[in-house]
Amino acid sequence: MALWGGRFSGPSSELFQLFNDSLPVDYRLVEQDIQGSVAWAAAIAKAGVLTEAELASLQQALQELLVEVKDQPQQILSSGAEDIHSFVEQKLIEKVGDLGKKLHTGRSRNDQVATDLKLWCKEEGEHLLTLLNQLKQAMLALAERELDAVMPGYTHLQRAQPITMGHWALAYVEMFERDLSRLQDTMTRLNTCPLGSGALAGTAYPIDRKALALSLGFAAPTLNSLDSVSDRDHVVELCSDAAISMMHLSRMAEDMIFFNSGEANFIELADNVTSGSSLMPQKKNPDALELIRGKTGRVYGSLTGILTTMKALPLAYNKDMQEDKEGLFDVMDSWSLCLRMAALVLEGVKVNRNRALQAAQQGYANATELADYLVSKGMPFREAHHVVGEVVLRAIAEAKPIEQLPLATLQSYAAVIAEDVYPNLTIEACLDKRNVLGGTAVAQIQAALVAKKY
Ligand code: ARG
Repeated sequence: MALWGGRFSGPSSELFQLFNDSLPVDYRLVEQDIQGSVAWAAAIAKAGVLTEAELASLQQALQELLVEVKDQPQQILSSGAEDIHSFVEQKLIEKVGDLGKKLHTGRSRNDQVATDLKLWCKEEGEHLLTLLNQLKQAMLALAERELDAVMPGYTHLQRAQPITMGHWALAYVEMFERDLSRLQDTMTRLNTCPLGSGALAGTAYPIDRKALALSLGFAAPTLNSLDSVSDRDHVVELCSDAAISMMHLSRMAEDMIFFNSGEANFIELADNVTSGSSLMPQKKNPDALELIRGKTGRVYGSLTGILTTMKALPLAYNKDMQEDKEGLFDVMDSWSLCLRMAALVLEGVKVNRNRALQAAQQGYANATELADYLVSKGMPFREAHHVVGEVVLRAIAEAKPIEQLPLATLQSYAAVIAEDVYPNLTIEACLDKRNVLGGTAVAQIQAALVAKKY
């Protein structure tokens, strides 16, 4: 039975019910709805609405219901209730009769759903913080394992300067740390309890909202009832945190798909996160990484969706806001799956050190070193840049790396070049020279790992 029939003389159309009912989505809030109801019962008992005995039997019935729905969750969807709040109330009335009808005193589904959803966000947010941390640990482990594995660094997808795999891994650790701090920030901000705000104007019963908020594990109550029931900033923020984090995961996936390609071949992905082709027996496809990259799109879609839904909604609650959950649930599900999958991919990745080193040695990645060498001999950098460009052109024509050009050839471009140029052009020299905070030198990677307490 609907919670609101009295004012109506005709039934809803079936199509309207199908359109309006949110149970197929919000059944996931069942535990939060029961938890919120237990706290609300205590709050109205304190306000004199329920006797101690009534409170005890309501709370006992709610606890029983919690056990039952955990045991048999399928009964929720088959109940045909309008939404999860109606389901819980209906079940309560089945258990304790008329007493069950007292629970909604002073409460509206508007403050109820806002509270349930925030409780869900708090729990899910904690879970995501754990997963983000686990991914960060997996990346730190890779950084440590491959501390000094040399590979080319790219700009414009052109080999630019040599770096180490440790340096590459730590770049993503920085991103993951920002993702963590963004989510923590969101969690701090959403930690206020809307319950006791009524439909929009505040509840007419003398509820101790502070005690109520604390009893539900919130840091404080919300401060304005209109805002309490119409605020969905936390949904937007979580989708936004997820979107940014997924952008990082997607870039990581893209990097690794390329590193794993036949063309680069710097890494090999493990069998447990790749799949074969139905036609081409030689293939081992990077599906896990491609799906991470692909799922980023739907997360962005949900962020755009909730922003667009909330835009221009008048205060306070509007049914439009029922559209908040489907996208959020999908975002949090996709995000957590991708974080777990990314960690699994990182754990099994094998680095083909010889091949990566070879690629770093080709492509004139030490051209900047020659320019710096000329600068050390007194040539202005802009001129050195030009000279080295000519040297590279010559080396390309001879199909050789710069360091294999004889001294006389190099000197024909700049007389200041001497025999001591060659040690400057080795990969080791390129890396070692970048021993400045944030640089790719192995000593810096080691220091960064220590700083991150790894
Ligand atoms: N199912 C609704 C939602 O998710 C619950 C709130 C309903 N409130 C109302 N006034 N109809 O938003």
